[in-house]
Amino acid sequence: MKKSWLISLVISSMIIIGVVISMNLPKILPYYAQLSQVRVGLDVDVQPLAQKSAHFVGSDSCKTCHEAEHHDWKSSLHSKMIQDIQKDPSAVIADFSTLPLDADFTLKEAVYSIGSKFKQRYMIPATINGSEDFRLGNYQWNAETHKWQNFKPYKYWYKDAYPADNKTFPTSNACDGCHFTGYMSTQKRVEPSISCESCHGPASQHVKDPQSPIFKASLSDPIRSNEVCLQCHMRNRDIRLTQKDTQVKDLWMSAKDYPLGYEAGLPLKQYKLPAPFTPNQESKEFWPNGAAKKNRTQGNEYVQDAMYQHGITCINCHNPHKLSNTAQKPEGNDACMKCHSMGSLIGPHQNTLEEHTMHKADSKGSQCIECHMPKTAKHTGKSPYTVRSHRFRFTYPSETKAYNMPPQTNACYSCHQDQSLENLQKDLLSWGRVGWDAFIFN
Ligand code: HEC
Ligand code: HEC
Ligand code: HEC
Ligand code: HEC
Ligand code: HEC
Ligand code: HEC
Ligand code: HEC
Ligand code: HEC
Repeated sequence: MKKSWLISLVISSMIIIGVVISMNLPKILPYYAQLSQVRVGLDVDVQPLAQKSAHFVGSDSCKTCHEAEHHDWKSSLHSKMIQDIQKDPSAVIADFSTLPLDADFTLKEAVYSIGSKFKQRYMIPATINGSEDFRLGNYQWNAETHKWQNFKPYKYWYKDAYPADNKTFPTSNACDGCHFTGYMSTQKRVEPSISCESCHGPASQHVKDPQSPIFKASLSDPIRSNEVCLQCHMRNRDIRLTQKDTQVKDLWMSAKDYPLGYEAGLPLKQYKLPAPFTPNQESKEFWPNGAAKKNRTQGNEYVQDAMYQHGITCINCHNPHKLSNTAQKPEGNDACMKCHSMGSLIGPHQNTLEEHTMHKADSKGSQCIECHMPKTAKHTGKSPYTVRSHRFRFTYPSETKAYNMPPQTNACYSCHQDQSLENLQKDLLSWGRVGWDAFIFN
């Protein structure tokens, strides 16, 4: 009796091991604990209790104990979003000698710069609504075209909530929650830029006593873990618009473009109303297939993707401190192949890279992100298409055409501009790479 039980145990474990090896599972295996974690739901507060009474203290107080994280963060753009240009004039990337004459600000008046990689905007102290605030200059520097460009932020979704004038448009409501640490929850600019406590929550208790717990996103389930990034990397509307009969004009001089009150670990859903998207309809922010037209839409796109639904998070691809896989500095196919492998259960379902991409292995046309993260969005109306989509599912040329999207937002076309979308679709047909889903768009 006991012996046969043992034999069947040995045989069945051999079968299991065989299946695991033949399915090419090992690469995704280390992630199983993450992927199969119980989902706690969007409404549960996962902030440690000890943080409820804590306040924000700033990144300097973490440095001595967490030197490595501090060093990595310091070298990332999160630490440089807002820079005091009066203290450090070298942070200015614009050519102020060519600033147009009808500019409503001078370099001397500007206190902070916002951004540096794609565009730079300037914050000027102003009294708005009777309180000390900041306004934005009416020109921004486009770092991609190296030109000054008109800037009228009040024309965005909240245009019915503010006068059409930069001078009465406060950054406190429109911007600062996402660009200053602490502002989102306390309405105090604790520290310029995105620092430790934007993602870990207020830390005064933990600094006093390191045993006092502090929020770490990767400890909660993957859906909730993503929220620490989604608080900022997702276009939104003022949550008060969910109240019955509330319209933008009812939020006169107070409409907020960030989830006011949110702290890492709190249920983001109670603070954030994502920018609306109706499938098959083009909007200011999205193409009819849901791909982004603008920057800062990673979350809006990613939540539509199968990887999100299976429990892959932003930090599976981006180190949260270094931010590796930064814009226009991708890590290459290795970033994807740490989970994917050729002929594996999760795809690609061909046995070699060349069979999957139909391009030579060393061709640009064999880089995963070139086909799965096409450049569908721009940083400003006058910028080139440089913002890659975080909807990873392949977009067929026929889909691009059926949705009336600009052809250059299609991966194949972006590299083969001498071809038509029709011809590129035919290439895919001839490769046997068109599934039934593509015929929906024919
Ligand atoms: C006096 C030293 C000290 C200071 C100051 C300090 N920490 Fe820590 N921190 C620690 C120690 C020790 C641990 C490990 C604690 C443990 O394992 O229970 C830790 C753990 C952490 C963790 C991981 C928590 C987890 O559950 O795994 C985070 C996140 C963190 N600290 C963030 C911060 C931030 C942000 C600051 C600054 C606002 C900060 N720490 C300041 C000593 C410190
Ligand atoms: C953009 C969000 C973000 C910022 C900013 C940030 N962190 Fe983190 N940090 C995270 C996430 C997410 C994790 C979990 C990473 C993981 O488990 O792989 C983490 C992990 C940690 C840990 C635990 C490391 C471990 O091995 O478990 C420490 C300590 C820490 N951070 C300290 C800091 C300090 C200090 C700063 C500021 C200098 C900082 N973080 C800034 C998001 C952030
Ligand atoms: C408090 C707001 C905020 C939070 C929270 C936040 N980010 Fe960011 N992130 C920004 C801003 C603003 C920028 C632009 C910085 C700049 O250009 O100076 C940015 C830039 C980035 C970049 C591009 C960096 C580059 O060099 O091109 C990546 C990647 C990124 N964030 C990933 C993340 C991830 C992953 C998380 C969550 C762990 C996260 N962010 C959390 C606001 C935030
Ligand atoms: C909901 C959070 C949020 C709000 C509100 C917000 N931003 Fe940002 N902003 C981000 C994030 C996240 C990024 C980086 C990601 C990206 O661009 O895709 C960013 C990027 C930028 C950049 C480009 C940075 C660079 O290095 O090129 C500028 C400039 C900027 N924002 C200015 C503003 C201004 C001005 C406002 C207010 C009118 C504002 N933002 C409101 C989150 C926000
Ligand atoms: C499957 C991997 C993967 C996941 C998941 C992922 N990203 Fe990315 N992301 C990338 C790669 C690769 C790039 C670099 C693209 C490039 O070359 O510009 C990138 C670029 C970015 C950028 C720079 C955008 C720009 O061009 O201005 C930001 C910001 C960003 N990711 C944030 C996020 C956030 C927030 C999440 C979660 C909602 C996320 N990413 C999830 C792979 C990923
Ligand atoms: C030349 C364009 C191209 C490149 C480059 C490319 N893919 Fe694909 N990929 C596709 C197309 C087209 C599909 C959908 C049609 C299909 O399923 O055959 C697809 C489908 C997939 C799928 C869904 C499962 C499957 O096999 O259908 C996965 C996963 C995938 N690709 C991963 C990757 C990874 C990882 C890389 C980089 C090693 C990569 N792809 C590079 C074109 C590309
Ligand atoms: C941490 C693990 C992990 C990483 C890293 C990763 N993937 Fe995935 N990917 C998955 C899982 C899990 C699935 C879901 C498989 C399924 O549904 O069968 C998936 C599915 C996909 C799909 C098919 C479903 C869809 O939504 O389109 C594509 C395409 C894809 N990944 C592309 C990529 C690309 C490109 C990269 C690199 C930028 C990448 N993946 C990085 C784990 C990962
Ligand atoms: C990142 C750029 C890039 C992307 C994206 C890309 N290709 Fe290519 N393609 C190339 C390059 C470069 C070659 C030259 C041969 C090589 O490197 O394999 C090529 C070669 C080809 C060829 C061989 C005939 C020729 O023109 O030389 C065909 C057909 C083709 N691509 C179709 C496609 C289709 C269809 C897609 C979308 C699924 C696509 N390509 C996506 C860059 C790209």
